[in-house]
Amino acid sequence: MKIIVVGAGYVGLVTGACFAKKGNHVTIVEQNEDKIRALEMGKIPFYEPGLDQYVTEGIKHNLLQFSNDLAETLKTQKYDIIFLCVGTPSLANGDPDMSAVWKVIHCIGQNLMHNCIIVNKSTVPVGTARKATTLLNEILATRTIAVTATIASNPEFLREGSALLDFMQADRVVCGVESDEAKEILYALYKPFVEKPADIIDMNFESAELTKYAANGMLATRISFINELARLADAVKADIVDIKKGMGSDKRIGSAFLNPGVGYGGSCFPKDIDALISTGTQYKEEMTLMRQVKKVNDTQKQWFIDSIFNFYGHDILNKTIGIWGLSFKPETDDIRSAPSLDLINALIEDDIKIIAYDPAAMMHVKELYKDKVRFVKHKQDLLAQVDALVIMTEWQEFIDTNLEDFTHIKDRVIFDGRNCFDPIELHMHNLTYFCVGRNVYSPEWHEKSIEKRAEYLEQI
Ligand SMILES: NC(=O)c1ccc[n+]([C@@H]2O[C@H](COP(=O)([O-])OP(=O)(O)OC[C@H]3O[C@@H](n4cnc5c(N)ncnc54)[C@H](O)[C@@H]3O)[C@@H](O)[C@H]2O)c1
Repeated sequence: MKIIVVGAGYVGLVTGACFAKKGNHVTIVEQNEDKIRALEMGKIPFYEPGLDQYVTEGIKHNLLQFSNDLAETLKTQKYDIIFLCVGTPSLANGDPDMSAVWKVIHCIGQNLMHNCIIVNKSTVPVGTARKATTLLNEILATRTIAVTATIASNPEFLREGSALLDFMQADRVVCGVESDEAKEILYALYKPFVEKPADIIDMNFESAELTKYAANGMLATRISFINELARLADAVKADIVDIKKGMGSDKRIGSAFLNPGVGYGGSCFPKDIDALISTGTQYKEEMTLMRQVKKVNDTQKQWFIDSIFNFYGHDILNKTIGIWGLSFKPETDDIRSAPSLDLINALIEDDIKIIAYDPAAMMHVKELYKDKVRFVKHKQDLLAQVDALVIMTEWQEFIDTNLEDFTHIKDRVIFDGRNCFDPIELHMHNLTYFCVGRNVYSPEWHEKSIEKRAEYLEQI
């Protein structure tokens, strides 16, 4: 099939490269010229394992090309389907910013030259596909040539870091389709990406749009659930890893998305939870659970930061803090709503020195904080220069650290927000180790944190 993909971000580029991999002819249209220049040279503008190879292969086989002019592409090329993969970041009130989506719909309406299916992959409020259908038909009615466009909604569920696998071997493909033609085309296009046809699930527009939010709402709920339980585990001297095993081995529950940490971040969960709450408000449904999921997440992020400040008290002002991990999760360079940024902001506010390392995301953090944060090229480079180490992302290279290396940290203190290590082993190396929901193995720590927490609660 001949496909246009609008937006060369994490979703658009993966979508385009994967469709090309299966023999479709794909043109990716991106407004950012720097991204286009890089892509034409086979360079990926962000970190996603394996994507560079897909893009290079696609270009080599003349299946993948790039453009920065949507109007021109619509006028000069043949296409059966157009995918919308533009960003929908949160506005200050929690609603998604839909300006990029509407801009693209307008451009398509004004420049479309062939009948085609327009498929939205961006995460958008319920009602968008129906509104887009009305808007497109209004614009097309003013054109001198007779063309028709059929809208479909096809939310994307890929995860940064394993995006290619998620796309190439999708658990399911959700299609909001309300015409037989759109349904047939999407089934034909996606057949090579699923194990069996039943994994392509069709439904009405509203259901498809809400399914995306429902999936992220459930995943965020599990994260907040385990995080809240991890804090309770610390308070009652239990081990959250044992609890997870005991609970997750129940087939009704499972163990996915039950790793306690420093709270969820990234470009999807925070904004999608906000959008779900906002949709609830619009339709007079309170979304009580989603509000609490968000609240627990904010509490978790603050709890971890407080634990560092509580441990040192006033002395923290003279400390240098090392940070391992800046991206919101491993295998991506994405720092959108990353918990590491909350930590950096809190440290900077008190003029505390920071030295940071991340395998992929340092340049983005550098752009934000300039010389307020120092960076090192290798993870070991900062250990001897810092008083304490904070781990914010569970990159495999951190997990693979030789524990002897930690003995170079001046105060021999580690705050591990991702439970990368066995607390007992670290205590055996004479290191003070604070983690999440496993502080039962550190009696001194435990007493201190309970006491400090009581003081803290009294103050607020
Ligand atoms: N990142 C993820 O893991 C993920 C997963 C599932 C769904 N989503 C959703 O998919 C959508 C895209 O997410 P993303 O992470 O790829 O965003 P992104 O910000 O990385 O990429 C969006 C791209 O679209 C481009 N763009 C915007 N307007 C354009 C226009 N008029 N013409 C051409 N290009 C234009 C931007 O320059 C940018 O490169 C969002 O709605 C997001 O919520 C994201």
